[in-house]
Amino acid sequence: MPRPRLTFVGTGYLGATYAVCFAELGYEVLGFDVDVARIAALTAGTVPFHEPGLTELLRRNLAAGRLRFTTSYAETADFGDVHFVCVGTPQRPGGTGADLSYVESAVTGLAAHLTRPALIVGKSTVPVGTAEWVERLVAKHAPGLGVQVAWSPEFLQEGRAVQDVLRPSRIVVGVRSEWAGALVDAAHRGILELAAAEDREVPVVVTDFATAELVKVAANAFLATKISFINAMAEVCEVAGGDVTQLARAIGYDPRIGNRFLQAGVGFGGGCLPKDIRAFQARAQELGAGEALRFLHEVDLINQRRRGKVLQLAAELLGCPPGPGGPQFAGARVAVLGATFKPHSDDVRDAPALQIAAALARAGAGVRVYDPAGMANAALAQPGLRFAESLDDAVRDAELVCVLTEWPEFRTADPARLGRLAATPLVIDGRNCLDAAAWTAAGWRYRGLGSRPAD
Ligand code: UGA
Repeated sequence: MPRPRLTFVGTGYLGATYAVCFAELGYEVLGFDVDVARIAALTAGTVPFHEPGLTELLRRNLAAGRLRFTTSYAETADFGDVHFVCVGTPQRPGGTGADLSYVESAVTGLAAHLTRPALIVGKSTVPVGTAEWVERLVAKHAPGLGVQVAWSPEFLQEGRAVQDVLRPSRIVVGVRSEWAGALVDAAHRGILELAAAEDREVPVVVTDFATAELVKVAANAFLATKISFINAMAEVCEVAGGDVTQLARAIGYDPRIGNRFLQAGVGFGGGCLPKDIRAFQARAQELGAGEALRFLHEVDLINQRRRGKVLQLAAELLGCPPGPGGPQFAGARVAVLGATFKPHSDDVRDAPALQIAAALARAGAGVRVYDPAGMANAALAQPGLRFAESLDDAVRDAELVCVLTEWPEFRTADPARLGRLAATPLVIDGRNCLDAAAWTAAGWRYRGLGSRPAD
């Protein structure tokens, strides 16, 4: 089968990265979005979010003529043999389930313009059962054309998305016909060829719709559980006098456990893990299996508690009085380092750092936030907060420094220099990412999360 022409419907974080990377693999690619400004930016070679390495690939593939962007469904339908649906599935307003309205409008918008056989491949993270529903939508809006559906979840992490798309840990595909299987195979051949050229193997799991959909949410639920597990151990260490970082290292040497995703701190945020574990529970409940996922509620609670812990610790260290709704920080000058949900991203969705900064400000603290990439998004999400121009600016005159996103700029900063800028050399390391010994030697009173202080 010749290489199919690919479209990516929805050029948000996922779709834009996929469109660019598949063009890089040599496919003819068209990216679609209803957002005119986004399409204009991409067409002009500008990536509208922060992702290392993506801009260079975008420009190279635009120049090579393999990659174009459009706001026209008709053009998209006409161009593609395989259409990847990459739109968002946010948390439903006022509920915990997933909002599928973008998937619905993408599929119906596209299907209404199709005139020949094509394959629609879902990539968005969805509740199990969605692929079958998409099949019914296609049957209604593009009847008798031989348009089929497949589901192929993605596992990319923000900040390393280019690598994750070009060199995935696995490819998972839910299909219902040989034709769909062959076409989806052809659409992924570039990834397998790259792997072969680099003497690697990429496992391919071909399965049914439900399993393909569930693999994605199960993987995210497992990752969230792993993080909350280590954060639960942090809670125990704090009262028992242990050290969660050493504990994580020690259990991680067991290959059955593994040492990744065992970083204790302020917990997980972002546009995926928090909403996905809630949507998964809501869907399991609908299906009558709510009890099976009840533990995910606990995972969520542990995660939320870690954010509160920073406030509690800050109050304790600053000697701030408790108030009816939590500690009161009247006038305390606090530098918050980090706003994004993790480093190498400008994404502030459900970011622990930004939420903690806002909570400190609400409780009366004079907060100054600095983030190397997330300030514009942070200012949009929390317009009431004060932002510093630089790391030094944030730390200058602070009575407490809270490191809440583990950016390299913070990890490698000279604690002696920062100590001379701060009013009080007091630091909460909310990600356990600093060299505690070096900071202490430079005169800082250092507190990580998940240990009991010596003093
Ligand atoms: C997550 C998954 O890791 C991806 O596999 C998945 O494809 C993606 O969601 C998605 O569903 O689209 P992402 O949201 O980019 O990726 O971020 P992660 O790297 O998973 O980090 C999530 C959060 O967990 C961050 O706030 C991070 O700081 C936190 N985290 C991570 C910890 O607190 N401790 C750790 O040990 C690891």
